[in-house]
This record gives sequence, structure tokens and C-alpha cells, in this order.
Amino acid sequence: MRTEAPPPLSANPVVRIASDLLSERAARGTFPPGPTDFNFRRTRVMARDPLSVLLPLYREYGPIFSVRLLHARVVFMLGPEANRFILVEHPELFHWREGSFGDLIPLLGDGLLTIDGAYHDEARRIMMPAFHREQILAATEVMFAEGEAALAGWRPGETVDLYHWMRNVAMRIAMRALLGLDPDDRGQGALAAEHFERALSYYGIDFHKRLLRGPGSPWRSMQRSRAKLDEIVYAEIRKRRAEAEPRRDILGMLIAARGEDGEGFSDREIRDQVMTLMFAGHDTSTSTLTFLMYELARNRAARERVVAELDEVLGGRRATPQQLERGLPELGMAIDETLRLYPPAWIGPRRAVRDFEFGGYRVKAGTYVNYSSWASHRLPEVFPNPEAFEPRRFEPARKAALPRGAYVPFGGGSRICIGKRFGLTEVKALATLILQRFRLEHVPGHTMRIRQMPTLSPDGGLPVIVRERDA
Ligand code: HEM
Repeated sequence: MRTEAPPPLSANPVVRIASDLLSERAARGTFPPGPTDFNFRRTRVMARDPLSVLLPLYREYGPIFSVRLLHARVVFMLGPEANRFILVEHPELFHWREGSFGDLIPLLGDGLLTIDGAYHDEARRIMMPAFHREQILAATEVMFAEGEAALAGWRPGETVDLYHWMRNVAMRIAMRALLGLDPDDRGQGALAAEHFERALSYYGIDFHKRLLRGPGSPWRSMQRSRAKLDEIVYAEIRKRRAEAEPRRDILGMLIAARGEDGEGFSDREIRDQVMTLMFAGHDTSTSTLTFLMYELARNRAARERVVAELDEVLGGRRATPQQLERGLPELGMAIDETLRLYPPAWIGPRRAVRDFEFGGYRVKAGTYVNYSSWASHRLPEVFPNPEAFEPRRFEPARKAALPRGAYVPFGGGSRICIGKRFGLTEVKALATLILQRFRLEHVPGHTMRIRQMPTLSPDGGLPVIVRERDA
């Protein structure tokens, strides 16, 4: 339909590495300063604890620097000005597809995360109505129903892995609200959820294991799950097209949506877009809720303020969609602060498509360029005492006084997260349900370690002890 889809990218790792090295040769002599020796240790530390690499480099070199990771020399740009430059002032200089988002194409195809330019903008325009306020408000019913059912099994005194609990709830919500599939239907919804999780796990394993292609490799297993998912999603699309009335979930909206010329998405485009939405929306909401509960369990005063607000505003009832949107400011600030400390989509990988200048350095077309919300949110000159959980930083006047581009947990500009309202509504709905009923306590002796692939999450989950709320 409409604007032409971009050509496929090679998923062959040898071709990728060779092309990266050639492109680096072409840009020789023009990289911003920074350590660019081949250093296996740095790559390993970066995979485990990127802040410990990025923040010292920022202090040494300033808001733009180079660093070699694995075989490739990449440029990082950090801080409010850099974020603004990439996201708002010059998005046309960068592509997502040729950056490391391209690695997602074998599973996601050509959805919003892996396309650029006119093709992206047109797809986004067609999809926007599916994310309007009314549409998200309708999904809150699903969010509450799933949350309440999943909490019914919690008993005071028991230990629950909050991360895995939420992952399961978020997957069920996504199945219903995005795809309209019943997660309890063994033939369809449950199978789709299972294969989606399996396919996703490919992106959480070490890079070198992702390069293997033979029988029994993680790649093959991801391909098998992708094929199964395709079968289910295409069957659902065919079924929907045969129905007289479009349904009101997001898949239904995408099938009914039309561009300016009256043309809609093809089956393949719909499949790629819904897979992308599932991918982008699942881990991110899961991690946000988990880190929020982690911090509230450690910060008694902050938790008490949120709980007092819930009592006062809701008095034990479910929040209305309007209350979720703007009627619970204490909860809102606690979530803002959680997303500052742990922005799940912590890195914005891009590739420069034209030469540009920033901070006194010239960067060549073809260079990998990343911004990082996580590192930018930890700069002490922007967020004093950056390690501390202080929701009050996000009181309206203080939030408005932050430099533009300082706080970017949802990205920014014309490609800001399309699911922002959906994700925030989901996290708030589930947080109200948990906090109205329970108090969560850390398990003595357990240390939370952060894993950063593909999104920030607590490594190995987050066990918590469930207590009665007022005990
Ligand atoms: C708290 C939850 C969420 C967070 C923190 C989050 C964060 C982000 C960020 C940072 C980006 C921009 C990445 C970049 O600039 O490189 C993004 C883009 C995106 N997000 Fe989210 N996200 C969340 C929830 C969701 C949900 C629930 C959905 C879908 C239902 C979703 C779908 C997308 C899509 C499709 C894009 C690409 C948009 C485009 O390029 O036009 N996200 N998200």
C-alpha cells in the first residue's frame, strides 16, 4: 500500500559485522574522542552494568564520545541537549532500522520500531486513533479484571515473585487488549502467549549465542515460535476481516484504519505492527510496576503518601479511568521517579544517515549513535542526588523547571512512545489494586540486580513478601 516498505536487512551476523567494519573504515578520523581499542572486558562490563561505563566517559569527555563495544565503534550522546538534538531537533538525521533495532526484524518484521521516514510516519498516522484516550479508557476494564483475578491468589505471609507475576498479567492484558485473544484458550491465546515469551527470550541471551544458527540454536527456536505466532495472528486477522462489524480492541482498530487515500494496512503490515506493540509494551510495563513496588517497599514515607492518597481519593473503590489519568498525583510522581531511575527502554539506538555536528565534533553518516535515558537521568548536575528515590522532584513546578530533554523515559518528538498512555494506565491500575490491598516487603538477604537486555528488569525476578496492608 501507499509509500513503499523498506528493503529487507540481512540477518546474517557475518554480513552485519563486515558491513560495520567497512562503514567504520569509511568514517576514519572523524569520531568524537573516547576509548576505541578492542577491549573484551569493557564490552562485558557494558553488558552487565552500562552506567559504570557511560557515566565516567561522560565525565571525562562530555556529552558526546565514542566507545568500542564488541567489534563496533559507537557514539553515545548524553544529557538534555543531546536528547533534544536526537529526538526533537534533528530526528531526520537518524534511522532506527539500521541501528540495533534492526536486530528485531527477524521477529517483529516492519513495525513502528524498525521503519523510518515517510513509511513510518504514514503507518503511525494510521495507528494513532487506536491509542486515543477513549480507546485506552476502554482497555482499563481489561487491566482491572486481569489484575483483580491475579491478586485473588495472594495470601499474606507468602513470597511472590512480583516480576514474573506482573509479566504474566501484562501478557494476558496484551493478548486481550491488543489482539482480542482469550489467554485461557489453549488453542489460541495461551499458545500465542507461550510462543511470544519463547521468541522474546532470544533477545535476552548473550550476543554471541544469538549469532549461532545451527539446529538446536536459540535462533532456530525463535524462528519456530515466530512461525507458530504467525499462524495464530494471520488466522485471527482473516477471521476479523470476514466479520461485518470491526471489534473495538487494537487489532480491530488496525484492521479498520485507513490512510488519507482510503487504503488500509495489508495483513502482513498488521501482523508486523501488532507484534511490535506486543514487544514494546510487554516488558516495559512489567518492569515499571516491579521497580515502583521495589522502591515503595524501601521508602516508607513515599509509600505512605501514595497509600494515603488512594484512601482519600478512592476509599477502597476501583479508580475510574479519569482518576487514573490525573486524579492520583502522588502515585503519578512515584511512577515518574521510578521511570527516572529505571527507564525500561534505557537506550535509543540509531544510525546516522547524514553527517552532522554536535558539541564541536563532526560525526559521519553510517555511524552508530545512541542516546540513553538511563545515563542521562543519573547526571547529578541535572538531577541532584541522582541515586535517591525522591518522587517530590516531580512536583508540577519542579518538573516544569527541568531543562527540556532532561527526562525522556518515553523518548520524545515525533516518535515518542505511541503506547505511553496505555503503559501508564496499566501500571497505575495495577499499582492501585496492589497498594489498596497489600504491603510488600523485601525478602531479607535478597539483593536486586538489574539486567539490561533487552529492557531493564530485575535479574532473576523480584521476590517480595506479601503482608496485609495495615499490619
Ligand atoms: C511504561 C511503559 C513504557 C515505556 C517506559 C516505554 C518507552 C518507550 C521509549 C523510550 C520509546 C522510544 C525509544 C527510542 O526513542 O528509541 C518507545 C517507543 C515505542 N513504544 Fe513504548 N514504552 C512503554 C509502553 C509501551 C506500550 C504499552 C506500547 C504498546 C502498546 C508501546 C509501544 C511503543 C512503540 C510502537 C514505539 C515506537 C514508536 C514510533 O517509533 O513511532 N510502548 N517506548
